[in-house]
Amino acid sequence: MKYIVGNWKSNKTLEESSKWLEQFNKIYKQSNTSKVIVCPSFIHIPLMVNASFSLGLQNLSPFEQGAYTGEVAAEQLAGIVEYALIGHSERREYFQETDSQLKKKVAQARQFDIEPIYCVQSEKTPIPEGVQIIAYEPVEAIGTGNPEDPANCRSVFAKIVKRQPEIKTCLYGGSVKADNAAAFLQEPTIDGVLVGGASLDPVEFAKIVTYASQNQT
Ligand code: PGA
Repeated sequence: MKYIVGNWKSNKTLEESSKWLEQFNKIYKQSNTSKVIVCPSFIHIPLMVNASFSLGLQNLSPFEQGAYTGEVAAEQLAGIVEYALIGHSERREYFQETDSQLKKKVAQARQFDIEPIYCVQSEKTPIPEGVQIIAYEPVEAIGTGNPEDPANCRSVFAKIVKRQPEIKTCLYGGSVKADNAAAFLQEPTIDGVLVGGASLDPVEFAKIVTYASQNQT
Protein backbone atom coordinates (compact mmCIF):
# COMPACT_ATOMS: atom_id res chain seq x y z
CA MET A 1 0.00 0.00 0.00
CA LYS A 2 1.43 3.38 -1.03
CA TYR A 3 0.45 6.82 0.25
CA ILE A 4 -0.03 9.62 -2.27
CA VAL A 5 -0.36 12.91 -0.42
CA GLY A 6 -1.14 16.15 -2.24
CA ASN A 7 0.01 19.37 -0.57
CA TRP A 8 -1.75 22.27 -2.25
CA LYS A 9 0.02 24.83 -0.08
CA SER A 10 -1.51 28.33 -0.29
CA ASN A 11 -3.11 27.79 -3.70
CA LYS A 12 -6.52 27.76 -5.40
CA THR A 13 -9.64 29.85 -5.19
CA LEU A 14 -12.94 28.12 -4.36
CA GLU A 15 -13.79 28.04 -8.04
CA GLU A 16 -10.45 26.46 -8.94
CA SER A 17 -10.74 23.83 -6.24
CA SER A 18 -14.20 22.77 -7.39
CA LYS A 19 -12.91 22.44 -10.96
CA TRP A 20 -9.99 20.36 -9.68
CA LEU A 21 -12.39 18.10 -7.81
CA GLU A 22 -14.64 17.66 -10.82
CA GLN A 23 -11.73 16.70 -13.07
CA PHE A 24 -10.00 14.48 -10.51
CA ASN A 25 -13.21 12.59 -9.74
CA LYS A 26 -13.60 11.72 -13.41
CA ILE A 27 -10.27 9.87 -13.36
CA TYR A 28 -9.79 8.72 -9.75
CA LYS A 29 -10.80 5.22 -8.77
CA GLN A 30 -10.42 4.13 -5.18
CA SER A 31 -8.03 1.24 -4.72
CA ASN A 32 -6.95 -0.74 -1.71
CA THR A 33 -3.33 -0.57 -2.82
CA SER A 34 -3.06 3.21 -2.54
CA LYS A 35 -4.14 5.77 0.02
CA VAL A 36 -4.86 9.21 -1.39
CA ILE A 37 -4.76 12.20 0.95
CA VAL A 38 -5.34 15.75 -0.24
CA CYS A 39 -4.22 18.63 1.98
CA PRO A 40 -5.92 21.82 0.75
CA SER A 41 -6.27 25.20 2.47
CA PHE A 42 -8.88 25.31 5.25
CA ILE A 43 -11.40 27.12 3.00
CA HIS A 44 -11.63 24.11 0.67
CA ILE A 45 -12.36 21.54 3.34
CA PRO A 46 -16.19 21.92 3.33
CA LEU A 47 -16.19 21.27 -0.42
CA MET A 48 -14.21 18.07 0.04
CA VAL A 49 -15.72 16.48 3.14
CA ASN A 50 -17.57 13.89 1.08
CA ALA A 51 -14.73 13.15 -1.32
CA SER A 52 -13.69 9.54 -1.84
CA PHE A 53 -10.13 10.32 -0.76
CA SER A 54 -8.88 11.32 2.68
CA LEU A 55 -8.35 14.89 3.80
CA GLY A 56 -5.35 16.35 5.54
CA LEU A 57 -4.43 19.71 7.02
CA GLN A 58 -1.34 21.70 6.16
CA ASN A 59 -1.19 23.19 9.61
CA LEU A 60 -3.02 23.26 12.92
CA SER A 61 -2.87 25.20 16.14
CA PRO A 62 -0.46 24.12 18.86
CA PHE A 63 -3.23 25.09 21.32
CA GLU A 64 -6.63 23.80 22.21
CA GLN A 65 -9.73 25.80 21.20
CA GLY A 66 -9.83 29.27 22.71
CA ALA A 67 -8.53 32.81 22.47
CA TYR A 68 -5.85 32.26 19.81
CA THR A 69 -6.82 34.63 16.99
CA GLY A 70 -6.22 33.26 13.53
CA GLU A 71 -5.58 29.66 14.55
CA VAL A 72 -7.59 26.54 13.72
CA ALA A 73 -7.58 23.97 16.51
CA ALA A 74 -7.39 20.21 16.05
CA GLU A 75 -10.66 19.81 17.94
CA GLN A 76 -12.44 21.96 15.31
CA LEU A 77 -11.35 19.55 12.58
CA ALA A 78 -11.76 16.31 14.53
CA GLY A 79 -13.78 13.77 12.58
CA ILE A 80 -13.46 15.84 9.39
CA VAL A 81 -9.82 15.38 8.48
CA GLU A 82 -7.75 12.28 9.14
CA TYR A 83 -4.21 13.63 8.68
CA ALA A 84 -2.14 16.76 9.30
CA LEU A 85 1.17 17.82 7.80
CA ILE A 86 3.28 19.10 10.67
CA GLY A 87 6.76 20.61 10.48
CA HIS A 88 6.88 21.46 6.78
CA SER A 89 10.06 23.41 5.98
CA GLU A 90 7.99 26.34 4.68
CA ARG A 91 6.26 26.61 8.09
CA ARG A 92 9.63 26.43 9.82
CA GLU A 93 11.17 29.05 7.51
CA TYR A 94 8.39 31.59 6.96
CA PHE A 95 6.47 31.22 10.22
CA GLN A 96 9.40 30.45 12.51
CA GLU A 97 7.83 27.26 13.82
CA THR A 98 10.10 25.69 16.38
CA ASP A 99 10.59 22.09 17.47
CA SER A 100 8.78 22.80 20.73
CA GLN A 101 5.72 24.27 18.93
CA LEU A 102 5.72 21.35 16.53
CA LYS A 103 5.72 18.94 19.43
CA LYS A 104 2.58 20.66 20.77
CA LYS A 105 0.94 20.41 17.35
CA VAL A 106 1.63 16.69 17.24
CA ALA A 107 0.10 16.29 20.71
CA GLN A 108 -3.01 18.28 19.68
CA ALA A 109 -3.44 16.25 16.50
CA ARG A 110 -3.12 12.95 18.31
CA GLN A 111 -5.52 14.00 21.06
CA PHE A 112 -8.22 14.46 18.41
CA ASP A 113 -7.41 11.41 16.28
CA ILE A 114 -5.71 13.32 13.50
CA GLU A 115 -2.65 11.42 12.31
CA PRO A 116 0.43 13.62 11.98
CA ILE A 117 2.54 13.35 8.84
CA TYR A 118 5.70 14.83 10.26
CA CYS A 119 7.98 16.53 7.74
CA VAL A 120 11.70 16.08 8.29
CA GLN A 121 14.35 17.92 6.34
CA SER A 122 17.15 15.48 7.10
CA GLU A 123 17.89 12.37 9.12
CA LYS A 124 18.86 14.69 11.99
CA THR A 125 15.52 16.52 12.28
CA PRO A 126 14.10 15.82 15.77
CA ILE A 127 10.82 13.90 15.61
CA PRO A 128 8.37 14.18 18.52
CA GLU A 129 7.05 11.15 20.32
CA GLY A 130 3.79 9.82 18.93
CA VAL A 131 4.71 10.30 15.27
CA GLN A 132 4.23 7.21 13.13
CA ILE A 133 4.34 8.71 9.64
CA ILE A 134 7.17 10.91 8.40
CA ALA A 135 7.77 12.67 5.11
CA TYR A 136 11.42 13.22 4.24
CA GLU A 137 11.62 16.46 2.27
CA PRO A 138 15.12 17.84 1.76
CA VAL A 139 14.75 21.62 1.32
CA GLU A 140 16.86 21.68 -1.85
CA ALA A 141 14.45 19.23 -3.53
CA ILE A 142 11.26 21.23 -2.84
CA GLY A 143 9.92 23.08 -5.85
CA THR A 144 13.27 22.98 -7.64
CA GLY A 145 12.76 20.17 -10.13
CA ASN A 146 15.70 18.33 -8.53
CA PRO A 147 14.33 15.42 -6.56
CA GLU A 148 16.42 13.39 -4.11
CA ASP A 149 17.88 10.12 -5.30
CA PRO A 150 15.56 7.27 -4.17
CA ALA A 151 18.60 5.36 -2.87
CA ASN A 152 19.41 8.26 -0.51
CA CYS A 153 15.83 8.17 0.80
CA ARG A 154 16.35 4.52 1.67
CA SER A 155 19.42 5.30 3.77
CA VAL A 156 17.78 8.31 5.51
CA PHE A 157 14.71 6.19 6.38
CA ALA A 158 16.87 3.38 7.73
CA LYS A 159 18.67 5.77 10.09
CA ILE A 160 15.44 7.39 11.29
CA VAL A 161 13.65 4.10 11.90
CA LYS A 162 16.66 2.68 13.70
CA ARG A 163 16.54 5.66 16.06
CA GLN A 164 12.74 5.70 16.39
CA PRO A 165 11.30 2.27 15.65
CA GLU A 166 7.73 3.50 16.28
CA ILE A 167 7.89 5.19 12.86
CA LYS A 168 6.02 2.84 10.56
CA THR A 169 5.56 4.82 7.37
CA CYS A 170 8.20 6.82 5.48
CA LEU A 171 7.18 9.07 2.59
CA TYR A 172 9.34 11.10 0.25
CA GLY A 173 8.55 14.63 -0.96
CA GLY A 174 10.33 17.17 -3.15
CA SER A 175 9.77 17.71 -6.91
CA VAL A 176 7.76 14.51 -7.35
CA LYS A 177 5.95 14.63 -10.71
CA ALA A 178 4.05 12.17 -12.85
CA ASP A 179 7.19 11.41 -14.85
CA ASN A 180 9.47 10.60 -11.91
CA ALA A 181 7.02 9.20 -9.33
CA ALA A 182 7.63 5.62 -10.45
CA ALA A 183 11.26 5.76 -9.31
CA PHE A 184 10.07 6.45 -5.75
CA LEU A 185 6.97 4.27 -5.76
CA GLN A 186 8.92 1.25 -7.04
CA GLU A 187 11.31 1.44 -4.11
CA PRO A 188 10.01 -0.98 -1.45
CA THR A 189 11.27 1.10 1.49
CA ILE A 190 9.47 4.26 0.29
CA ASP A 191 5.87 4.01 1.48
CA GLY A 192 4.61 6.83 -0.68
CA VAL A 193 5.10 10.38 -1.90
CA LEU A 194 4.19 13.88 -0.78
CA VAL A 195 3.45 15.91 -3.87
CA GLY A 196 3.36 19.73 -3.91
CA GLY A 197 3.27 21.52 -7.27
CA ALA A 198 2.19 18.47 -9.27
CA SER A 199 -0.85 17.93 -7.03
CA LEU A 200 -2.35 21.22 -8.23
CA ASP A 201 -3.05 19.70 -11.63
CA PRO A 202 -5.76 17.03 -11.27
CA VAL A 203 -4.61 15.11 -14.33
CA GLU A 204 -0.97 14.98 -13.25
CA PHE A 205 -1.89 14.06 -9.68
CA ALA A 206 -4.26 11.37 -10.94
CA LYS A 207 -1.45 9.89 -13.05
CA ILE A 208 0.68 9.46 -9.91
CA VAL A 209 -2.27 7.92 -8.06
CA THR A 210 -3.06 5.59 -10.94
CA TYR A 211 0.54 4.44 -11.15
CA ALA A 212 0.55 3.69 -7.42
CA SER A 213 -2.75 1.82 -7.64
CA GLN A 214 -1.76 -0.31 -10.60
CA ASN A 215 1.73 -1.26 -9.58
CA GLN A 216 1.30 -2.39 -6.00
CA THR A 217 0.02 -5.47 -4.29
P1 PGA B 1 7.02 20.10 -4.50
O1 PGA B 1 6.65 20.34 -2.97
O2 PGA B 1 6.43 18.77 -4.91
O3 PGA B 1 6.39 21.25 -5.23
O4 PGA B 1 8.50 20.08 -4.60
C1 PGA B 1 6.61 19.28 -2.05
C2 PGA B 1 6.28 19.81 -0.68
O5 PGA B 1 6.77 20.90 -0.32
O6 PGA B 1 5.52 19.18 0.07
